[in-house]
Parts: sequence; C-alpha cells; structure tokens
Amino acid sequence: MTWDPRSLPDLSGHVYLVTGSNRGLGYFASEQLVRAGAHVIMSGRHPNRLSAARAAIRRRITDAAPDASEPLILDTSNLASVRSAAASVRGRGGLDGVLLNAGIVHAPKVRETTIDGNEVVLATNALGHYALAGELLPALAAAAGRMVWLGSVSTSLTPYDPVDPQLADRYSAWRAYVQSKVATAAIGFEADRRLREAGMPVASVVAHPGYSTGGRTPGIAGVNEPSRSKRFRDNLQAPIAQSKEHGAWSLVRALVDPEVEGGEFWGPRTRSRGEPRKQTAARVTRDPEVGARLWDFAETATGVHWPFGVEPRRPA
Ligand SMILES: NC(=O)c1ccc[n+]([C@@H]2O[C@H](COP(=O)([O-])OP(=O)(O)OC[C@H]3O[C@@H](n4cnc5c(N)ncnc54)[C@H](OP(=O)(O)O)[C@@H]3O)[C@@H](O)[C@H]2O)c1
Repeated sequence: MTWDPRSLPDLSGHVYLVTGSNRGLGYFASEQLVRAGAHVIMSGRHPNRLSAARAAIRRRITDAAPDASEPLILDTSNLASVRSAAASVRGRGGLDGVLLNAGIVHAPKVRETTIDGNEVVLATNALGHYALAGELLPALAAAAGRMVWLGSVSTSLTPYDPVDPQLADRYSAWRAYVQSKVATAAIGFEADRRLREAGMPVASVVAHPGYSTGGRTPGIAGVNEPSRSKRFRDNLQAPIAQSKEHGAWSLVRALVDPEVEGGEFWGPRTRSRGEPRKQTAARVTRDPEVGARLWDFAETATGVHWPFGVEPRRPA
C-alpha cells in the first residue's frame, strides 16, 4: 500500500494516547492523528502547556470535533503519576495505541535522580514508559492495539550496552541520553517477543524521527517559538535535518499503518530525514540477552510486572 504521511487513512472512532504531546514531535503526532479523525488523549506534565497545545490544534484544524482531544496530566519521571494516569485511561475502555514519546533530549550535565530514586533521563525516557505500557496492557489488548517506543539513530552512532543502566559510574549527558534510548528500544523489542509468546493481541513497534529540530519547524504560539538565532543555527543543518512536523511522520505511521507489524523499526528514509521506511535497528537494541536483562532491571526498578495472560478488559 502507498503511504502518504500528509493524508492518513480515516481514524474516526480510534483512540490514541501520546506522551509529551504539548510540544515537539508529540504535538505534531497528535495534530496528525486529530486531522485524520482520531480522538487523542494528549498528555504532559503541565496543564497550561497542554491547554496551549490543544488550543493550537483547534486553531489549525478548524473542522476537528470540539472533543477531538482531551488532556491528561502525566509525568513519565514519576511512577505515582504514571500509575494514576494509566488508571484513568484504563477506566475509559479500549485503547488503539500509545505513542511513548515524552523524553529528555538535552540531559543534565550532572547526574540527577527522581523521587523514585532512578537516574532522571533513564526514568523519563525508558522506565516511565515501561511502567505505563504495562499498566495500559489490558486497555490495549481490548482494542488489539499497538505501542510505539521512541528509539534514536544515536544508538547506532555510540551503541552503548547499558550494563550500568542507572549510570552510578561514568555519567555523562551523552551517555545518559544514548543509554536511555538503547534501553527504550531494547525494551520495545523485548516487549514484542513477550507479547507474541503470551499470544496477546498487542503489537510493540520501535520508531525514530531522524534528526528533527525546532528551528526547522513551523512557529506555533505556545508550542514552537524558536529564537532567530536558533532558526539560523538549525537552518545551517538543512541538508541533514527536518522539521518536527515531518519527524512525526514515522512515529504516526508506526502507530496507525495496518501493515506495520510488532518488532519492526521505522524511521525516515535517509535515517536523518524523509518519508517513513522500515529499517534495521542498532544490533545492541535487538540483542535478546540485552532485552531480557533490561526487562528484569525495569521490573525491579519500577515494581511493575506486565499482566501477560490477563484477559483483555472489554469496554462496558
Ligand atoms: N528531535 C529529534 O531529532 C529526536 C531524535 C531521536 C529521538 N527523539 C525522541 O523523540 C522524543 C521527543 O523529542 P522532541 O524532539 O519532540 O523533544 P522536545 O521538543 O524536547 O519535547 C519533549 C516532550 O517531552 C516532554 N517531557 C519531558 N520530560 C517529561 C516528563 N518527565 N513527563 C512528561 N513529559 C515530559 C516535554 O514536555 P515539557 O514541555 O513539559 O518539558 C515535551 O512535550 C524523545 O523521546 C526523543 O528522545 C528525538
């Protein structure tokens, strides 16, 4: 089937949750889903930022239904927030998909930990999403849904094996970011193996947006307001960079294209920009030994055990 990221199939009646949807890739993924008729649960950690993003969607998609999106407070670095948000999503019935997008892209220079005691980049990007997807499994199974994890080409540039996922030793901002993305992708592929083994009707897919920058992205009040100097700097990278609007294409395709299958890896054509294509992920992220090890680690660090084998919760 030819896929046109500018003209998605009709998604009326479908419900998706997007994490970190108030700006960046999460905002544009939400916008594209709403434009195709889906109902989007837009989540973020600040009510005001979510309101600004939902207002932007209403301004830019004037024929969208007034209730095309709904807000959900969710801080992926805080396990209590994850559990509470997941409970409210489960309570509303089946879920067609979750885009596990929220993330710290510019990691702190010095190691920080969350209220739960985990290294903050790993917690935000990987552990919170592991816990969220596990808590949402009954709702996803009820709709034969899909989860999409955010990988990154940085995992091929420096393929760290997270033998010390919490980075107790040798912390650096780059290592924290790349390790969190190795962990996210490896857990996403491991989830696919475990879902298949359990015979659950839920697909786990990993996607990445290439190199997508705010300075190459349309200005939208309250969502993307880069300074002139950022626009200038980002435009110098035009041959290898794209907008976050275009970066969201691969994430949305991974989430909604009926031909995408669990265990696949999707990203832009040249790996840094372009239309979505199926690709091969970094070897370390595909290694089942690494996946199983990180899964055990995530279970212990979050206390969340995915309810494999539990009957899907059907909407009342
Ligand atoms: N841009 C790229 O080229 C690129 C490349 C590879 C992978 N990625 C991945 O794509 C994802 C999105 O990146 P982006 O470029 O769109 O980044 P971004 O513009 O910085 O947006 C990050 C989003 O995540 C949210 N977020 C951060 N910490 C959070 C937390 N604790 N709880 C809930 N939400 C939180 C932010 O919300 P606030 O406004 O509240 O901070 C924001 O909505 C990330 O996972 C990133 O690793 C991006």
